[in-house]
Amino acid sequence: MEKPEIKIGSGYDVHRLVSGRKLVIGGVDIDFERGLEGHSDADVLIHAVCDAILGAAGLGDIGEHFADTDPEYKGISSMILLEKCGALLEKQGYEVSNMDCIVFAQVPKISPYKKKMEDNIAGSLNMDAVLVNVKATTTEKLGFIGKEQGIAAQCTLLVKADRRKI
Ligand code: CDP
Ligand code: ZN
Repeated sequence: MEKPEIKIGSGYDVHRLVSGRKLVIGGVDIDFERGLEGHSDADVLIHAVCDAILGAAGLGDIGEHFADTDPEYKGISSMILLEKCGALLEKQGYEVSNMDCIVFAQVPKISPYKKKMEDNIAGSLNMDAVLVNVKATTTEKLGFIGKEQGIAAQCTLLVKADRRKI
């Protein structure tokens, strides 16, 4: 089969909001009284982006590459995982064309941090920040997100074949 010129990827992740943890979303430390629970820094947005990249690359999902039982990844910044996912994609001769992300959170307010999140993601993937979009929505107090028990994130992206790297 001829190598496709473009491919899409999608990622979705959820983490529980708990006391006694830092809140890190999109590589930004957010001032909030609770944080996301997880083996790594539990950066739900970056995990969704990693899964979208791995999906576009046809390489499964984040858990298959970075096991949440591996002591090497305990407390690790998810930005490092993102860089590794970007490198795996590049090895296949693709680069991210653009991405659109959603953070589903009743609290806290994400909008003051969106620009920094976009810059962080773009920086880790060596792409222009105008090609990275982060948005946020509440769930109108409905469900586990609305009841502030957790935060979810979703990412959709397009990758294109980098002809220079084939
Ligand atoms: O229905 P819609 O998503 O427009 O309303 P909403 O969920 O109340 O969100 C209103 C605005 O707040 C959105 O434009 C989001 O950018 C922002 N928002 C935010 O900054 N942080 C959140 N955790 C949720 C929403
Ligand atoms: Zn996660």
